[in-house]
Amino acid sequence: MNASAPRESILFVCLGNICRSPTAEAVFRAKAQRAGLASRLAIDSAGTGSWHVGNPPDWRATAHASKRGYDLSPLRARQVARADFSRFGRIFAMDRSNLADLQRMRPPDHAGHLGLFLDLVPQHRGRDVPDPYDGGDEGFETVLDLIESASDALVTRLMGAPPGR
Ligand code: 4NP
Repeated sequence: MNASAPRESILFVCLGNICRSPTAEAVFRAKAQRAGLASRLAIDSAGTGSWHVGNPPDWRATAHASKRGYDLSPLRARQVARADFSRFGRIFAMDRSNLADLQRMRPPDHAGHLGLFLDLVPQHRGRDVPDPYDGGDEGFETVLDLIESASDALVTRLMGAPPGR
């Protein structure tokens, strides 16, 4: 086995892959780097829809994230594919609609984790990261607050997990 290969692969999924899931990708990547976990992780994001494929994140998501020190600018939207179920051991949906779409796509032999991102935070279990696309500034701040707390919880979980689990 290649010793430098990532041992965990994590995919964040929303609808458009221009607001919530690229925010989750950048926030979680920054926190994983700070925790010294990044070398064992592959981190990506995708959307269930195809409207924004190839586009950079929404400028509002980029601006709000930048104020907290996260860089979304290198990211480009892509659509989730069935192959992602074999590539990613942990797939986190931003809301229940995304999760239902992913459950319909999921190959029957998929052995990895598929669930809501906020299930990682006890006080937000079962809840959605609300879609900020048609709203105002406070929606993007709420997205960041929720994603930061779920990312902290995921880092804590991975720090406690033996390699490869
Ligand atoms: P996201 O937000 O799923 O967090 O990327 C959205 C982006 C675009 C659309 C909806 C939600 N849209 O309808 O185009």
